[in-house]
Amino acid sequence: MKDHILVLGGTGKTGRKVVSRLTQRNYRVRIGSRSQQPSFDWQDPSTWGPVLTGIDRVYISFQPDLAVPGALEAIEELTKQAQRHKIKQLVLLSGKGEKEAELCEQVVIHSGIDYTIVRASWFNQNFSESFFLEPILAGQVALPRATTKVPFVDTDDIADVVVASLLEKRHQGNIYELTGPRSLTFPEVIQEIATATGREINFTSISLQAYTSMLKEFQVPEDYIWLINYLFTEVLGDEKNSQITQDIEKVLGRKPKDFSEYVLETSGTGVWNHQS
Ligand SMILES: NC(=O)c1ccc[n+]([C@@H]2O[C@H](COP(=O)([O-])OP(=O)(O)OC[C@H]3O[C@@H](n4cnc5c(N)ncnc54)[C@H](OP(=O)(O)O)[C@@H]3O)[C@@H](O)[C@H]2O)c1
Repeated sequence: MKDHILVLGGTGKTGRKVVSRLTQRNYRVRIGSRSQQPSFDWQDPSTWGPVLTGIDRVYISFQPDLAVPGALEAIEELTKQAQRHKIKQLVLLSGKGEKEAELCEQVVIHSGIDYTIVRASWFNQNFSESFFLEPILAGQVALPRATTKVPFVDTDDIADVVVASLLEKRHQGNIYELTGPRSLTFPEVIQEIATATGREINFTSISLQAYTSMLKEFQVPEDYIWLINYLFTEVLGDEKNSQITQDIEKVLGRKPKDFSEYVLETSGTGVWNHQS
């Protein structure tokens, strides 16, 4: 019988694509998240055992981010429970340029369980399924780091690399750094989306301090503001993170999806035209 694979965050941006690719190949898949039965909650380690029971391999997408306080302890505890449940393989989704996330990677690397680390750049889908969607719908995007080039990567490519890592032995023990084929600035991104949708979307360059003050005004939770501040400082503040890597092509034998292709596909769904 084919292996039973647990996908943590299996209804999320990368997880749901991993789930659909595995089920298409007739793998038995269990989704780990708060809304499933049995429920898996990162805040409550007592919920993890039942979800790990009977599982062979695990895809780990942590919530909200491996850089947040408490993430390291959670990954340490998860790997301990995984050892007890005789899990054969762990594939960890990590963030490119996040030093704290690398500490979590080390825990997985030294767990004694076969592993692959998938270290991704910022996702294209942040503009359609996450925090940048709302300002795009409002037609007013104000962000810091307007001149920083970001090699946005598509969650289709991440899911393909994760699935290859779960199913093909040659990926064991590798750390893959995933980027898209081009680095773009935020104003370039917004311009592409505006052109594809035929909408007027203004971009304003603001300081990180002004941005976090604005988030406070909108009553965004403090821990979320902490994370945004961290990501804009640590990840976008380091030029190394603008560099393009070849790992998607190395793993999949094809080029990564270009940002324009993502924009074309996504504008066809109408998600950028619905005012909530
Ligand atoms: N966005 C980026 O640009 C980027 C770049 C690099 C790395 N990453 C990493 O990607 C990871 C997130 O992956 P993703 O974007 O695929 O997921 P996502 O879309 O953020 O994930 C949502 C999923 O997580 C579950 N979830 C939320 N809170 C949970 C909790 N407390 N306990 C258990 N499950 C919970 C949700 O289901 P329920 O609501 O049912 O619980 C859902 O399945 C993070 O670790 C982040 O650091 C993100």
